Amino acid sequence: MGLKGRDVISIRDLSRDEIEEVLKGTRRMIPYAEGTKVGDQLAGRLLMLAFLEPSTRTRLSFETAMLRLGGKVASITDPALSSVKKGESLHDTMRMLSAYGDAIVLRHPNEGAGRLAAQASEKPVINAGDGAGQHPTQTLLDLATMQEAFGTLSGLRVVLLGDLRYGRTVHSLAHALALFGAELILASPPSLQLPEEVREDLEHQGATVREVDQLHQAVRDSDVLYVTRIQRERFADEAEYAKVAGSYRVDAALLSGAKQRLIVMHPLPRTTEIAPEVDGSPHAAYFRQAFLGVPTRMALLSLILTGKAA
Ligand code: NCD
Repeated sequence: MGLKGRDVISIRDLSRDEIEEVLKGTRRMIPYAEGTKVGDQLAGRLLMLAFLEPSTRTRLSFETAMLRLGGKVASITDPALSSVKKGESLHDTMRMLSAYGDAIVLRHPNEGAGRLAAQASEKPVINAGDGAGQHPTQTLLDLATMQEAFGTLSGLRVVLLGDLRYGRTVHSLAHALALFGAELILASPPSLQLPEEVREDLEHQGATVREVDQLHQAVRDSDVLYVTRIQRERFADEAEYAKVAGSYRVDAALLSGAKQRLIVMHPLPRTTEIAPEVDGSPHAAYFRQAFLGVPTRMALLSLILTGKAA
């Protein structure tokens, strides 16, 4: 049915064909994101941004995508300076933003906020992260990064390393990778394992999933090492965080046995989980990944707002 006018709250809202359409659009948008081509595909369109939780890449890449394609943005960046602070409900804020602009991008600390926003809004809502829930546009750019590196998504062996419990990027990504037939290898501190419902969804899809505690071995046999930060802000108790802080780290020694083609990805920001020495290695893909956020969001916004991404 096409993506025009659609909400994107969970990665499950998109079929495999729709994801592929976004990835195709992403490849076409790369010159516009680089600035070597100038476009006006989104001229006259206004995107409303409501980031009620910290963000650097996600907010800026949505803004960049709109501005480079001739569109405009209006935003709440600091909830303390908006009526959210006065106790306005998410429903009312979303309803109003939807009357002003053509689509809304929402980041919110609570899981489920994206779905609620979509119910309140008359315009398409894109979930840019809802608590420990979902982060579907991150997944689209993650897939774009893997596809650029390998030319395909099927048959990849992907290690998901880190905070699989609270990390919303892996909740979305695991589903999409299963959809494309990737093999998933889970590596996390025992208290930060993938939530049961995400696990069940993967099993339901017939995905190949296994857990490892020998990271060295897993890295040696894999194509992608996807690393995440421990989501400190989601811990109810700082002492619990202290128990797992710094419990894994990707460094040159870990990568010494890896296949030549292995790429290391990370949604960023990183704290201590990837040593800076990895940045210079041919395995490091995380800055390219962050760049690809712009053409990916260009493609998605164009499809939602105009029905095409060319
Ligand atoms: C991620 C997020 O906000 O979920 N960052 C991002 O959007 N690139 C990951 C994180 O904060 O660890």
